[in-house]
Amino acid sequence: MRSTRRSLAARLTAAGAGLVLMLTATACSAGDDDTDAATVEVFTWWAEGGEKAGLDALVSRFTADCPGQQFTDGVVAGGAGINAKQVLTARLAQGDPPDTFQVHAGAELTDYIDAGQVQDLTAEYDAWGLRQALPEGLVDDLTVNGKIYSVPANVHRANVVWINPQVLSNAGIHTTPKTITALLRDMEKLRKSGIESPLALGRDWTQLMLLEAVLISKLGAERFSGLFTGETSWSSSAVSAGIRDFGKLMSYSNADRDAMDWPDAERLLIDGKAGYQLMGDWEAADLEAKGFKAYDWFTFPGNGEVFQWLADSFVLAGGAPNPEGTKCWLKTVASAEGQGAFNAAKGSVPARTDAATPAGTVFSSYQQSAMEDWKTATPVPSCAHGSACSQAWQNAVNSALSAYSTSQQSTTTQPSTASPQSITALHKALIAAANQFIKQEQE
Ligand code: BGC
Repeated sequence: MRSTRRSLAARLTAAGAGLVLMLTATACSAGDDDTDAATVEVFTWWAEGGEKAGLDALVSRFTADCPGQQFTDGVVAGGAGINAKQVLTARLAQGDPPDTFQVHAGAELTDYIDAGQVQDLTAEYDAWGLRQALPEGLVDDLTVNGKIYSVPANVHRANVVWINPQVLSNAGIHTTPKTITALLRDMEKLRKSGIESPLALGRDWTQLMLLEAVLISKLGAERFSGLFTGETSWSSSAVSAGIRDFGKLMSYSNADRDAMDWPDAERLLIDGKAGYQLMGDWEAADLEAKGFKAYDWFTFPGNGEVFQWLADSFVLAGGAPNPEGTKCWLKTVASAEGQGAFNAAKGSVPARTDAATPAGTVFSSYQQSAMEDWKTATPVPSCAHGSACSQAWQNAVNSALSAYSTSQQSTTTQPSTASPQSITALHKALIAAANQFIKQEQE
C-alpha cells in the first residue's frame, strides 16, 4: 500500500523546496508507524459553506466504505473552479496529478479526455451497474468513442435568481417578474428605495452566467444550445439585443463586482444590501449553511421551463498514484448512499435516479422542486460551468466580460445605461471567440 509520504510532500511544494525536503524527512520517519494508510488525494474547489458540507458528507461515506484508505483534501478555493483549474493544469503538466479531480460533465471533460489525462472507467461502470442507474443523456456526456471517463455526483441548475424577500417587500415589490423588462423595472424601484446595487454580482464567470440566462430568454432553448455547436449564429440581432439587456442588468450591480467571488456577492444579499443574485442552485444549500433561511428564488425571467444544467463528476487521473483507492472513492461517489448523503448537503439533484438521503434527513423543498423540474424541463448546457464549451472558449468569454465590466467602471459607479461602443466591443469579442473555438471543434 502507498504511504502518506508522497502526498504530504506534494501538498507542500508551494512552501518551497527546502521546506518540502525537511518535512518529507519528518514524514518519512513518522510514516514508519503509518505504512498501512493509503491516501487518495481528491482535488476539488469545494472549500466552504454548502460545498464543503457536501464534500464532508462524501468523505464520511468514503471512510466507512473504504477501510485502509485515507482522504487527502486537495482543495483550491474559488467558485466554478476558477483558480483550481489553473492549479490542476500546472500539476498535470508537471506530471504531479492528484488521484482524482472534480470536472464538469460535457465539453470540459472532453478537454481532459483528448489530452489523455484521465483513465477509462468503462469496466467499472459495468461492474458497478452504473449504466442502469444513471440517466442515459448524462452517460453520453461522459463518453468519448464508446468509453466512459468519469463518475457524475450530481446535477445543478444554473439559471436561478435568489432573492431577499424582505428587501423587495420594503420597496413594494411583491410579484415575480416574468420578463427582463419587468426585472429591470423592479431593480429601478429598489434603487429608488435606497438599495444602490439591487443586483449582487461577482467576477467574470458569474457575469457569464447572467449573460447566458439573458440569451436563453432571447433565443429559447434550442437556439441557445446551438450557440455552442455552430448551429446558431452569434451575430444575430437577438444576440445583440441580449447583450444590450445584459448591459442594462450589469448597470444595477455592485461596482466592486470584479473583485468578488460568488459567496461575497451572496453576502450582499444576506445583509440586505441587494435584492437579487443570479446563481446556480448550490446557493440554496450555502444560504442554509450560513443560517440565512429567509430566501426565495425564481427561474430567470423568460427562461420558462428551461433547466440550464451542469454536473460535477470525478475521474481517475492518468498516472494517479493510488488507482485502487481512487476506484473505491469513485465507487462511493457512484453509490446510491454516497449520492444521497452528498446531494442532501450540497443542494444538488443526485445524478442517480435511486439515491435516498441518509436516515432521518430529507431533501430540502428547493431540491425537491429541482428534482421534479429536472425530470420534465428542457435541458440546456452551461458555458460558465463547462457543459457547453471548452475551457479555452470559457476563458476567452470570461476575458471579454472582464474587459466589458472594467470599461463600465470608469465613468461612474452607477452607470444606468451601457455605452454602445462597449456593447459592440463585447459582441465582437463573443463572435470572435465562437468563430475560433467552433472552428477548432469542427477540425
Ligand atoms: C460547480 C458547483 C459549485 C459551483 C460554485 C460549479 O462550477 O459545479 O459544484 O458549487 O461551481 O463553486
